[in-house]
Amino acid sequence: MIQSIDDLRKLAKRRIPRAIFDYADGGSYQERTLRANAADLDALTFRQRVMVDVSSTSLATTVLGTEISMPLAIAPTGLAGLFHADGEILGARAAAAFGIPFCLSTMSICSIEDVRAATNRPFWFQQYLMRDRGFNQALIERAIAAQCSALMLTLDLPLLGERWRDARNGLSIPPRLSLRNAWDVATKPAWAMKVLFGKRRTFGNLVGHIPGAAGLLNLAEWTHSQFDASATWRDVDWVRSRWPGRLILKGVLDAEDARLALAAGADAVVVSNHGGRQLDGAPSTISVLPEVVAAIDGRCEVLFDGGIRSGQDIAKGLALGARAGLIGKSFLFALAAAGEAGVTQALTIMRNELRVTLALTGTPGAAAAGPHMLTDPG
Ligand code: GLV
Repeated sequence: MIQSIDDLRKLAKRRIPRAIFDYADGGSYQERTLRANAADLDALTFRQRVMVDVSSTSLATTVLGTEISMPLAIAPTGLAGLFHADGEILGARAAAAFGIPFCLSTMSICSIEDVRAATNRPFWFQQYLMRDRGFNQALIERAIAAQCSALMLTLDLPLLGERWRDARNGLSIPPRLSLRNAWDVATKPAWAMKVLFGKRRTFGNLVGHIPGAAGLLNLAEWTHSQFDASATWRDVDWVRSRWPGRLILKGVLDAEDARLALAAGADAVVVSNHGGRQLDGAPSTISVLPEVVAAIDGRCEVLFDGGIRSGQDIAKGLALGARAGLIGKSFLFALAAAGEAGVTQALTIMRNELRVTLALTGTPGAAAAGPHMLTDPG
């Protein structure tokens, strides 16, 4: 019986090989920030209120001027198409049917064009700053051609954080059958049939666009060869001047950076430590959310990710001033567990948890969320 995101995570663990599961489940180095994201959310307690009319609690809100059915979006995650065949397409479809945004990652398996062709609602597109700025330019043009409704620029990955699990597991893109993983793969026949021997198995946005991309072996190699560790706010200006639509800057964890992001023309910032995958030892996102919200002071939207495993976690972020949350790991677990139906189930679980939590804190809807919902908002 699936009642929670944790149930979906357990199912995912049984259905996909260890190396793929760990790519989502893990963080960098000792995973302190990964754990802090969840622990600090857990430590917040709700203030129960009674005898408030909560009979028509509405979760609907807007993000970047678009109406959404609940304050949640699917975060850009690399390799979703290795968690389930056509994973990005299924995620985009589930999100569209639910009325929430889906953000496609540059490191996706299905390409921008694949997702565009298979869906009929605009999605967001994420990119990093690449050494080959011509590739950034090309990605921007592809996102415009696909009518993406926002561009999300990731700021916190000038180089890849070291993820010990990936190194230990020998994670490779495309996934390969080896002596080491033979038993693991043999016990996941459905995954092997559809993904390992399926048609899309490598970085869809690169193949055919970057010479030699098909031969890349792992994420570290990919990022070392492409990612621009010299990028600064001036490069963000460069993107801003080329992308005509809404710009979301992701990876802000500091009030000063929040002000710089605003000055660079952000329409929204995402308070994020990359799900604990980059700077281990950085604070949890929920602990810095209030100072970023204060620094932004209503001048653009503030979203947050990191450790969201339930609608209750979303409620805590809303209470501290976020407009919406984003889910990365929770999305990948749901996708691996049961494809599109799994993602729909995860979203349904979170929606119900959020509705009940708003009601029991005496909050008549997502728009009315605020610090009154917590016993100690800090
Ligand atoms: C990519 O952004 C990753 O975190 O693996």
